[in-house]
Amino acid sequence: MFNFIEKIFRRLNWEYRSLVSLIRSLSFESSGSSIHFGWDCKIVGACNISIGDNFIAHDRNRIEAISKNGSAIFNPKIHIGNNVIMNYGCHIGAVDFIKIGNNVLLASNIYISDHDHGHTNYEDMSLTPVSRNIISKGPVIIEDNVWVGEGAAILANVTIGKNSIIAAHAVVTKDVPPFSVVAGVPAKVIKKVTQNKLNENSK
Ligand SMILES: CC(C)(COP(=O)(O)OP(=O)(O)OC[C@H]1O[C@@H](n2cnc3c(N)ncnc32)[C@H](O)[C@@H]1OP(=O)(O)O)[C@@H](O)C(=O)NCCC(=O)NCCS
Repeated sequence: MFNFIEKIFRRLNWEYRSLVSLIRSLSFESSGSSIHFGWDCKIVGACNISIGDNFIAHDRNRIEAISKNGSAIFNPKIHIGNNVIMNYGCHIGAVDFIKIGNNVLLASNIYISDHDHGHTNYEDMSLTPVSRNIISKGPVIIEDNVWVGEGAAILANVTIGKNSIIAAHAVVTKDVPPFSVVAGVPAKVIKKVTQNKLNENSK
């Protein structure tokens, strides 16, 4: 009985969140069909964010296209493709450009950022962190069919090649070739698959 009632409440919650999401999606630069945001999601700069079809962001996700910080002005863009799922507590922040391709699966508590608070030099580090100028070392591109594991961080100026896997808690600071698995801090390639190996694995 309790399971049944819980199921109904879950369904009602989903429908309610879908309706709220539909209204919210009107503020995006563009948005496809079937967009769903869970509870306590924070969106900054929706007019610079485009989202494709069938997007699910579960609870406590933050997507921020930051166009102003103090006196600094940015021209940020975040493009999210079709069939993208963000699980819980992820944070995407752009002052430059972040692209998430089609069919990308983000686990929970993932951080994707194209910027830092200042440079790692004496002048900037003498200032308080909040008063350092925000700088971008370059865009983040996540190509199609990538799976990002729990707790991973993907930092600026990185391209993750199609069909790759980012292991749980990896910190990605360099480009990831397509069809590879990277793990660790900083992330290194632990496996690269080829067509033959793919066929072998699927036997
Ligand atoms: C990377 C992953 C997919 C496994 O890939 P795999 O190719 O099967 O890797 P293996 O288990 O064969 O491990 C290969 C090596 O990488 C290491 N490794 C695996 N995952 C690792 C991780 N997250 N961090 C650091 N090293 C890792 C293993 O210890 C092993 O090291 P060794 O060769 O020295 O023994 C898996 O470990 C992982 O991180 N999955 C993410 C889980 C997750 O976040 N789920 C959320 C659900 S959406």
